[in-house]
Amino acid sequence: MNLKPLQFGTVTINHPVVLAPMAGYTDAAMRTLCLEHGAGAVYTELTSAEGIRRDSENTFAVLAAAKNEHPIAGHIFGRDPEAMAEAAKYVELTGRFDWLDINCGCPVKKVVSRGAGAALLKDLPMLGTIISKVRNAVSLPVSVKTRIGFNNDSADHLEIARVVEESGADMIAVHARLAKNFHGGEPDFEKLGEMKQALNIPIIGNGGVQGLEDAERMVEVAGVDGVMIGRGAIGNPWIFETLRWGRRAACDTDIVPQAARLLARRDLMAEHLRRLVELNESKQHSSARAKKYTAEEAACIQFRTHIPYYVKGLFDKKQLLMKLATLMSVDSILEEVDILIEKNKCDD
Ligand SMILES: Cc1cc2nc3c(=O)[nH]c(=O)nc-3n(C[C@H](O)[C@H](O)[C@H](O)COP(=O)(O)O)c2cc1C
Repeated sequence: MNLKPLQFGTVTINHPVVLAPMAGYTDAAMRTLCLEHGAGAVYTELTSAEGIRRDSENTFAVLAAAKNEHPIAGHIFGRDPEAMAEAAKYVELTGRFDWLDINCGCPVKKVVSRGAGAALLKDLPMLGTIISKVRNAVSLPVSVKTRIGFNNDSADHLEIARVVEESGADMIAVHARLAKNFHGGEPDFEKLGEMKQALNIPIIGNGGVQGLEDAERMVEVAGVDGVMIGRGAIGNPWIFETLRWGRRAACDTDIVPQAARLLARRDLMAEHLRRLVELNESKQHSSARAKKYTAEEAACIQFRTHIPYYVKGLFDKKQLLMKLATLMSVDSILEEVDILIEKNKCDD
C-alpha cells in the first residue's frame, strides 16, 4: 500500500506499517521475523519502569533486543513520573533503541490497578507530567501508545490528543477502541480521523487490521500516517509482505501448490522456534524461566501461544493443540506439525 515514509525526530519509518507491542508475543524472535517480512518498525513488549528501577532481571530480559532490529521502540509503562524518566534514561543508555514509547492504553487489571497503562487516561494531568518528564530525560524521540478513551465518561480522544502533543510527544499511536472494551468490538476509525485532524505530530492508527483491505480502509477513513498491526501478525508475519510489497507470501497464495504452501508455513514455524531457542540461550542466567527450564524447553513453552495462529484453518489441528503441553523439544513439535501437514496435503 502507498504510504509516505513517516518521520519524527531522528526516526524514519520507510514503510509505516508497524508491528504492535504485544506482551507474551513480540519478543526478538517474532520481531525479527516481522521485520524481515516487511514490518516498517517494531516495539518491545511492555516493560515495567518500576522493574527497571528495582533492577529486575525479568524486566531486563524483556528489553534484551537483538542487535539487528531497527527501527525499534523501547515500550515502557508506569505511574511514577520519576521512575518513568529513570527507565527512559536506561532504555536510551542501552544504545539499542531508536525511540522511547510510553504505554497509556493497557487495560489489564494488574497494570490499571497500579494507576498505569490505560488508567492514565483517567488522569490526563499525570499523563502529561509523565510525557514531559520522559521527554526531558532523554534525547531519543518519544511516542505514546494510547486509546481513544478509557470509557464513555472519561476524557475523550481529542483531549487525549491535545495533552499528548502539548506535553512534548513526537508521535502517537492510537488503538481505536475504548480501554473498557479491551480488544473487542469495532474499532472507531472516524475518531482516529478526528485525532489526525487535530494533531500536528504524526499518528499511527491501530485496531482490527487483518489484511490489506482493513489497512486501506483505515488510511482512507482516518488519513493516518501509518498503520499498526497486532493480532493480525501473530502466526502471520507474511501480512507485512502483502501490505508493503503487494505480494502474497508462498504460504499464502493459490498460485503456489498447496503442499508447497504448507511447507512454507512449516519452515517459518521451524525458524521461529530456532530464534526462540537462540533468544533463550542468550537469556540464560537472566530470567526466572531460564533458571527453571533449558533454553529449548523455554522456547517450546513460549511457542505454545503462537502455534494455534500458525495452524489456523488447517484440518484436524486439534490433535496437535491438545498435545502441546507435553511437547518440550523442537523436534517433537516439528514432528507433530509434519503429521498435521501430511493430513492437510491434497492434490491441487
Ligand atoms: C496478547 C496481547 C498483548 C498485548 N500487549 C500489549 C502491550 O504490551 N502494550 C500495548 O501497548 N498494547 C498491547 N496490546 C494491544 C495491541 O498492541 C493492539 O493495540 C491491540 O491488539 C489492537 O490491535 P489489533 O486489533 O491489530 O490486534 C496487546 C494485545 C494483545 C492481544
